Parts: sequence; C-alpha cells; structure tokens
Amino acid sequence: MYSDPSNVTRVTSIGAGPIGGGWAAHFLARGYDVTAYLHDAGETDAFNSILDTAWGSLTELGLAEGASLDRLRIVTDLDEALEGAEFVQESAPERLEIKQALYKRMGDILPASVIIASSTSGLTMSEIQATCATPERTVIGHPFNPPYLLPLVEIVGGEKTDPEAVAWAGKFFEVAGKAPLLMKKEIPGFVATRLQEALWREALHMVANGEATPEDIDIALMNGPAPRMVSQGQCMAFHVACGEGGMATNLDQFGPALKLPWTRLDAPELTRDLRDRMVNGCNAIAGERHFEDMAAQRDREIVAVLRALRETRLA
Ligand SMILES: NC(=O)c1ccc[n+]([C@@H]2O[C@H](COP(=O)([O-])OP(=O)(O)OC[C@H]3O[C@@H](n4cnc5c(N)ncnc54)[C@H](O)[C@@H]3O)[C@@H](O)[C@H]2O)c1
Repeated sequence: MYSDPSNVTRVTSIGAGPIGGGWAAHFLARGYDVTAYLHDAGETDAFNSILDTAWGSLTELGLAEGASLDRLRIVTDLDEALEGAEFVQESAPERLEIKQALYKRMGDILPASVIIASSTSGLTMSEIQATCATPERTVIGHPFNPPYLLPLVEIVGGEKTDPEAVAWAGKFFEVAGKAPLLMKKEIPGFVATRLQEALWREALHMVANGEATPEDIDIALMNGPAPRMVSQGQCMAFHVACGEGGMATNLDQFGPALKLPWTRLDAPELTRDLRDRMVNGCNAIAGERHFEDMAAQRDREIVAVLRALRETRLA
C-alpha cells in the first residue's frame, strides 16, 4: 500500500519555526523537492533566515547530487502544500488542539498511503491522531535539535498506527540520511530526551547543593564523556572499560555503587533480569570484537573529534 521509501522525491515540511525550517533545509540538502507550509506569510523572512543558517553547515558537510535551494516552494495554503506530497513532516506548535485539528485536515486531504510524521517532543501520537480519519499512516518522527545536523530521529506510532507505517518511516528516514531509532513503546518522551533529562536533573541537584557551578558541569561533560560518547554510548563505554569481563564485571562489581548517597536520582533495583539484559545487549553489540579492538577504535574516533574541534575553534 505504501510506496517504496527510496522512491520518494517530494516532501512537505509544515511549520516555519526552528524545527520546520531545519527539516526543510535537511530534505533540500539531501536532494528532495521540498514544499514548506508557512502558517503565516509574515514568517517568510524568519524562515529564510533559518534556512540560510542551516545551508552554510549543510554545504560544509556536503550536499547530495542535485540538491538546491531552488527546489524549495513556500506556500501558505495547506491544500496546496500537500498537493503531490509523498511524505509529510509536521512541525506545528506543540499544542494538542492545533495538532489534532491539523491531522484531521491532513487526514482528509492526503491519500491514505502518504506517511505523516510529527516532530512533537511531548505529545503522543495516540493523542494527536484521535480525530484523524486516516490515523494508520501517522507516526512520530522526533528529531534532535538542530534537525539539519543531528542524525537521530526517534520513531513511534500511536494506538491506531499501522506497524507497517512505522517500519516505512524507519526506512525512509534512513534513505533520507538520518539515524532512525524505532522505539519499543509509546511513552511520554524519547530515549535521547530521557537520557538528557537524567543528566539535567543530576546537574540541577549539584548546583542546588553548591557542589558544582554550571561552568563546572559543562567543563566536566565537554572534556570527559562528550568526546567519548561520539564513539561509544553509555552502555558500550562501560562494557569496553571493564576489559575482558565487560558489562558483567561492571554490574557485578559496581552495582551496589548505584545506590551510593551522592547520586540524587533514584536508581532502579539491579535485578538479575536487568543485569542480564545489559550484559547480553552489550555482548550483542560487541559481536566478535575484542575489547582491546573496541578501545582502540574508540581512541581513534575521539582523536578525530578532538582534532576537528581544535581546527574549528582555531579557525
Ligand atoms: N525546539 C526544539 O528544540 C524541538 C526539538 C524537537 C522537536 N520539537 C517539536 O517540533 C515542533 C515544532 O517546534 P518549533 O520549536 O519549531 O515550534 P515553533 O512554535 O517555533 O514553530 C511552530 C510553527 O508552526 C506554525 N503554526 C502555527 N499554527 C499552525 C497551524 N495551525 N498549522 C500549522 N502550522 C502552524 C507557526 O507559525 C510556526 O511557524 C513541536 O512539536 C516541538 O515539540 C522541538
């Protein structure tokens, strides 16, 4: 029923804020024909300015063949914006009644085979699609800001979403140059935002207790975990750091430290099931690779990031 995601050439981006503008820039840079829906013609200058800023970085990163700002069409009429759309990325204001009304209208206008993805940060698709007559093809495709630079898009459907639509969106975002993450469950928030919130809460605790200043927190993050995280996420960083024993050593030896009193966030109970899920998950990512190879790869990637940062800062 849905087209092949690799054949999509024309997308519509709804919204002229940093997210709608950022998505339009991303799709243009990947060589799509893009129709941008602006709710108010008065936003044209602000929209173009977002686009110009994004285009500088995107050009530095390398544009897809045929990519051009000339392939952008700006319209203020929704019917016109959706005409011929093969995919729609919605970045309207984060207000349920606005999104519901929009999905009701889009649901009536667009053929049911066209997937609509919402950028929403805090609403669920089950809520947004409640009054849409064709909710099966509606998904969330949540970007990490700025959407024209950061690869992550978290994808999840609502109660009425067709699982095939979720799978389609995963393939489409991959073809469109993103790093899609298909969420296992519809929950408030996303994997990346929940991790970010955990860091944020711990930072606020430390500032509130006079243990660190905001500057200390950012110095610690930017010079410690951040460059390493470009190469390894939290799970694999600990797995590789524990040598031959990997994640099993980490949890079996250091598990009790999770409850040490200087951690303000409540730690989950380290049950056997949780331990095994972490250990098995890390072993699966590692595959046949020895921890020394993974550590060497991590070091090469950190060096590349630090070099790139140094060059940019000296420029
Ligand atoms: N800002 C972020 O960091 C961030 C990150 C990820 C996802 N998001 C999500 O992306 C979406 C857009 O975020 P933003 O920061 O660009 O928002 P924004 O409020 O800056 O922009 C929303 C745009 O929608 C337009 N609009 C207003 N009414 C409309 C309507 N009835 N129909 C269609 N468009 C309408 C506005 O004119 C504006 O151009 C939100 O759902 C938000 O949660 C935001």
